[in-house]
This record gives sequence, C-alpha cells and structure tokens, in this order.
Amino acid sequence: MIAPVLHGRKKEDAVMSKLLELVERKEAKIAVIGLGYVGLPVAACLADAGFSVTGVDLKADRLARIAKGECPIEGEEPGLAPMITKVVAEKKLVVTNDYKNLADVDIVLIDVDTPVEADNKPAYKALRGACEALGAVMKEGILVIVESTIAPGTVDKVVAPLLEKVSGKKRNEGFFLGHCPERVMPGRLLQNLTQLSRVCGGSTPETAKAMVALYRSIVKGDLDEADCVTAELVKTAENTYRDVNIAFANELAMICESSGGKFLRVRELVNKSPGRNVLLSGAGVGGHCITKDPWLLAHGAPGLDTKVIAAARARNDGMPAHVLSLVESGLAEAGKKLAGAKLAILGFSYLEDSDDTRHAPTEYFLGHAKAAGVECVVHDPYVEEFKGDLWKVLEGADAAVVMVAHTAYRSLDLHAVASKLRTKVFVDARHVFDVGAARAAGLVVRSLGNAVAAKDGVST
Ligand SMILES: NC(=O)c1ccc[n+]([C@@H]2O[C@H](COP(=O)([O-])OP(=O)(O)OC[C@H]3O[C@@H](n4cnc5c(N)ncnc54)[C@H](O)[C@@H]3O)[C@@H](O)[C@H]2O)c1
Repeated sequence: MIAPVLHGRKKEDAVMSKLLELVERKEAKIAVIGLGYVGLPVAACLADAGFSVTGVDLKADRLARIAKGECPIEGEEPGLAPMITKVVAEKKLVVTNDYKNLADVDIVLIDVDTPVEADNKPAYKALRGACEALGAVMKEGILVIVESTIAPGTVDKVVAPLLEKVSGKKRNEGFFLGHCPERVMPGRLLQNLTQLSRVCGGSTPETAKAMVALYRSIVKGDLDEADCVTAELVKTAENTYRDVNIAFANELAMICESSGGKFLRVRELVNKSPGRNVLLSGAGVGGHCITKDPWLLAHGAPGLDTKVIAAARARNDGMPAHVLSLVESGLAEAGKKLAGAKLAILGFSYLEDSDDTRHAPTEYFLGHAKAAGVECVVHDPYVEEFKGDLWKVLEGADAAVVMVAHTAYRSLDLHAVASKLRTKVFVDARHVFDVGAARAAGLVVRSLGNAVAAKDGVST
C-alpha cells in the first residue's frame, strides 16, 4: 500500500507526535546552548533523567571543567556537582563549542545571557549569536525553546525571524518554537529547577503540549500551557514585582531611620495585617536578573512611561550610596572623617552564600567609596579574589561594613571584630546583627533601617 502524503497541519501534527514519542521514550536528542547558572543545571537534570544532552558554550575554560566532570559554579549548590560528575562519566552530557554537533538534535534549549544596554534596552548579542549559529545547522522539525528571560514580543520579533532567515525554514512548519522561562536562583539551582512551576509558552498549542511532556521529566511543579508572549510577560513581571517590592522595603527602611523607627519591628507588625508582606531591605539589588528584567518588561511597551519600574530601579540602585552615608554617619560619631578612612567590606557577591558577583551592590559601593577618597579592603568566602583571611581584612580598619549576609558572617564574635578595628564603627546593611549586642561589644553601630536615636537595647 502507498503511504498517504501528509499535507498542511497534518504533517506538523505528525512531526509533533513523533517528537512526543521520542520524549516519552527519553530518546529525543537534546542540546542546551549556554552553560551558565541556568543552562548547566538544566543540561545536567535532563541528562540525569536519561536524555542524551549536548551542552554548547563559547567559554573554553568552562567547557574544559565540565568535560572533566567538574562543576564550574562555586558557592553552595546542593547536588549539582555530583550530578555533573555522574552524567559526564555516563556520557549522557557531552559539551562542545561547535554548533555542527547540533545537526541531529530534536530539541534545543537556549540559555544564554540577556542583559540590557546602558540605555536599558535589551542587549541580545548572545541570543542573536545563538539563533544565527543554530539556524545554520538545525534539522527539519526541531523544537527550539528559549529559556533565557526576554522582553515581551522577543520570540515573535527577534527569535522567529532570525531562525527563519538563517535556516530557510518556517516557524510551525519546518521548526517549532517555545518560551519556557527559568525560575532558578543561585544557591538553590537544582531545587528550584525541579520543584517550581513553569510556564510552557508555545507558538502553537501542540508545541506547548510537547514542552509540558519534556519538562515533566525533570519538573515536579505545575507546568502551565500558554502562548509565548504570556510566558515572556509572566517571567519579566515576576521579577519586576520583586524589584518594586524590595524598593518599597528599602524606602521604608530609610523612612524608619529618619523618623525614629526600627525597620524589622515595623515590618513584623505591618506583616500582621492580612495580605501584607513587606520584604527585607538591604544594601541593594544585584544579580543578572532583577537588575534588568524590569527593563525587559518595560520594553514590551516602548511608548509607555513606566514610572513605577523606573522609580523602583532608581531606589534600589541608590542603596549602596545610602550604605556609604551610614558609614559616614557612624565615622562622624566616632570622630573620624569619611575621606581617608579605611573600610573592611564583608561580602562581595550579590547574594548570600553564592559566588555570583554580577551587578553586586558591593561593586557599586566600592565605586562610591573610591570617589569619596575611602580605601576599602574586601572579604568574601566565595569569591576567589577576596577569599583571604577575614581577620586580616578587619585589622586596622575604621569600620566594618556587612554588605552580604553570608552564613560565615552570622556567627561573628563582635567583641573580636571590635578588637581588630582601629575605629570601632560597625555598619550592618543586611539585618544580620542585633544592634544592642553590637553596641554591647563596644561598637558604634549603624544598621540599615534603624534610627540612630533608637539606642536602647531592644532586640532588632
Ligand atoms: N542566573 C539566574 O539566577 C537566572 C534565573 C532565571 C533566569 N535567568 C535567565 O537565564 C538566562 C541565562 O542566565 P545565566 O545566569 O545562566 O547566564 P550566564 O552568563 O551564567 O550563562 C550564559 C552562558 O551563555 C554562554 N553564551 C553566550 N552566548 C553564547 C552563544 N552564542 N553560544 C553558546 N553559548 C553562549 C556564555 O558563555 C555563558 O556561559 C538569562 O536570560 C537570565 O536572565 C537567570
């Protein structure tokens, strides 16, 4: 019997059901482009679930470490290093910088960095580079899923046209396209990846269904089918929501300082009111995501004056300078000027117990301090450059400034800290230390969100 020729949607449906079968049997060949904080754990998880995964990156040192079964991500990442060692040894995960090795893959995940330019517009150099290189080799019927965070409209306006142009194939015919943004956070990469819910935005409903089948092999949380623009909006909105809420907490902390309050106590009592959840204030917002995702969301409506987003970004970007003003105030109480002072800075990464230094508030603090004629010596147990002896960093400094709430700092003996300092000023920008206890150790204390007048020993 002659096989019937498949026309129109029937052909696409047949391609999709073949793909679904391959996914169900874990026989789909998968590639992950970009092996950073997001792509590497995803590649490892899919390989651990039984798929053959090819990881692609441009960084030779990163590829070499992964090929040896090593995890190039420092910091506390429970379970990740042993998983990489295992899947590399089993040859379920192989890595390359050569896109030609992707010619026979069935599904590609794109996990490259998507920063913004100096003018806050999306900088899609990596995304475009990945699409161009992939488009040149991708086979008929491939499913391409962008996991990187992107501005609303990017799949339709950037990714699809580029892949179509380079490959000569049409979306929803010669290839299928989806957007499944990641929700991981350094420090909990595997846990977030496997437990949190995901939005599976497909260019067609069938594509979304195939994505759900794929992610079900590694994700325990909900997998919600959607279209691509909904997925783009959800991801950028959830990070913008966080940025705006942190900005409110930071502004409230500054109001507490000026009006005689204590932020933690005010927050605790506000949060007793139903539906309120004031976040923690801090030394600033860093990382690759929250600092730029609000601008990606804003890019979805180029003509709109996104005032709330801009104000939140400005408040959070202003926090390192505010911390420096707390240092200045503490030094003044101790009879010392800011210019010419020497500071011991505790913490450089943007997040506690992580090695991720992207857009770290400490970096901006150091810039402000330098401009003010202040010398800074930095310590961070997770960042190679600053891993030295904490006590040597504290020795002879005019103030210790806690910029990151690393676990290693939480149990610091404040009497010992005071004994090392030349001028006994202690600035806590992360709500780590009890103000009363720090004062009892003989320190002049400035604690973010605490009015200086609130000198009693009430626990903060
Ligand atoms: N870091 C997070 O916590 C997090 C969380 C959720 C979502 N995201 C999003 O995920 C995406 C990736 O973030 P990340 O933190 O993993 O970034 P990253 O910088 O750690 O990793 C990106 C990797 O992509 C590689 N790369 C760049 N261009 C490439 C190309 N053309 N071909 C192959 N490799 C290329 C880079 O060398 C790098 O190793 C971003 O869009 C980010 O917004 C990040």
